[in-house]
Amino acid sequence: MNKLKIAVQKSGRLNEDSMRILKEIGISVDNGKDQLKASARNFPLEVFYLRNGDIPQYLRDGVVDAAIIGENVLIEKGNDLTIVERLGFSKCKVSIAVPKSSKATSLKDLDGKRIATSYPNTVNQYLEKVGVKANLHIINGSVEIAPNIGLADGICDIVSSGSTLFKNGLKEIDVLLKSEAVLATSPLISEENQELIDKIQFRLKSVLKGRG
Ligand code: PRP
Ligand code: MG
Repeated sequence: MNKLKIAVQKSGRLNEDSMRILKEIGISVDNGKDQLKASARNFPLEVFYLRNGDIPQYLRDGVVDAAIIGENVLIEKGNDLTIVERLGFSKCKVSIAVPKSSKATSLKDLDGKRIATSYPNTVNQYLEKVGVKANLHIINGSVEIAPNIGLADGICDIVSSGSTLFKNGLKEIDVLLKSEAVLATSPLISEENQELIDKIQFRLKSVLKGRG
């Protein structure tokens, strides 16, 4: 039987929120924690648990038909992909932060400085926009530690509650973009699976409306 393949974040906050919305639209997925793939019991759908940063390429290649993913990840790695529906949860910012003691008050003040980030494309776009040159250090996680270990003068990373910045003695000085979870589709999606997405989208709209 044909099934819609949908990617969700493997672990983390977006994973929980994604599984919750699927449940709310009446799709129950057997969610064995160590499984990388799970089937829905009452909808022709398979969930693939993937790393956030890998999802844009899976969509592009048509390995999955759709994904629930942070808009910030699409902006960084999947500008070419189609957003079907904005989901209103997992809201966050992609921000520039510096040590509390720093005199910098915006990205402009980091001219010639070192910025650690997992979002090089996003940072480069904004650097270009404000006409500033900085040296990017690309790291994949625990970015907020970089200034403390002398690796960078500032960072660019996701801010949600702000607690990671606070714990690492950093302050936010610029917000590059605001993000939320979105439903995105593959350019290679079949007509049959597009119909399944339309059904899901219809259900999503009514659940999101109810959430207000
Ligand atoms: C994410 C993100 C920030 C933090 C933001 O990191 O990279 O560091 O959460 O959330 P907060 O503002 O609520 O503290 P995560 O914990 O997922 O780990 P990682 O950076 O090592 O991937
Ligand atoms: Mg982090």
